Amino acid sequence: MDNPLQREEPVDRMKREAGCHAADIVEDGMVIGLGTGSTTLYAMEHLSVLIEENGLCIQAVPTSFQTEMRARQLQIPLTTLDAYPELDLAIDGADQVDPDLCLIKGRGAALTREKCVAAAAEELIIVVDASKCVRSLSGPVPLEVIPFALHPVILGVRAIGGVPELRNGIRKDGPVITDNGNFILDCLFGEITEPGRLEGILSLMPGVLSCGLFCGFVEKTRVVVGGEDGCRELKRQ
Ligand code: A5P
Repeated sequence: MDNPLQREEPVDRMKREAGCHAADIVEDGMVIGLGTGSTTLYAMEHLSVLIEENGLCIQAVPTSFQTEMRARQLQIPLTTLDAYPELDLAIDGADQVDPDLCLIKGRGAALTREKCVAAAAEELIIVVDASKCVRSLSGPVPLEVIPFALHPVILGVRAIGGVPELRNGIRKDGPVITDNGNFILDCLFGEITEPGRLEGILSLMPGVLSCGLFCGFVEKTRVVVGGEDGCRELKRQ
């Protein structure tokens, strides 16, 4: 019989490994945050199995429409930050992870809600495949920007040496509109030597709702890296 898991691309296998490992950390009775993206979806699939087969009892706060819709399909009980402003943990993906556990997030444009959930969580479990671990952050830094302030923010990013690009939709004309009704500016800065400092500068620009650099959570971050032969965990010493 054909087994679809045997046809899985190596990168998907690594993501699945990381997602399942993270789901196994979740304990009965926990209220958790669920990030957005393909690796988190693997964690959600495994959580769904644990709920159905082991009677795991949890509630989850989703960070995007994508996650909310998928959680409903998977019968993961949902709640809100209004009901639970403090979460036991959050599971989320990342685009890049540096050795200090600073992150770039936001390829899926869900960075604002992801940052809210990360801040509310006692522990942040980041699930990535091995290709996401880098020596220093260099990827585009997504900014969620209110439409009213788009051009002043573009000028502000250029003034500090960045190259901003408005993210355009796929199968939609014009810019991506986030779940919060805003635009995304992807900003290149080359190698980012002081990510925490850059996050502070970008976050303070008027009109920037949030910045895809996540450097404020390193003390409570555990990174689960899916590799060819299982998972390894990274934590600050
Ligand atoms: C969503 O906005 C992002 O922050 C994702 O969490 C991040 O891009 C990782 O996504 P993948 O797990 O799909 O790579």
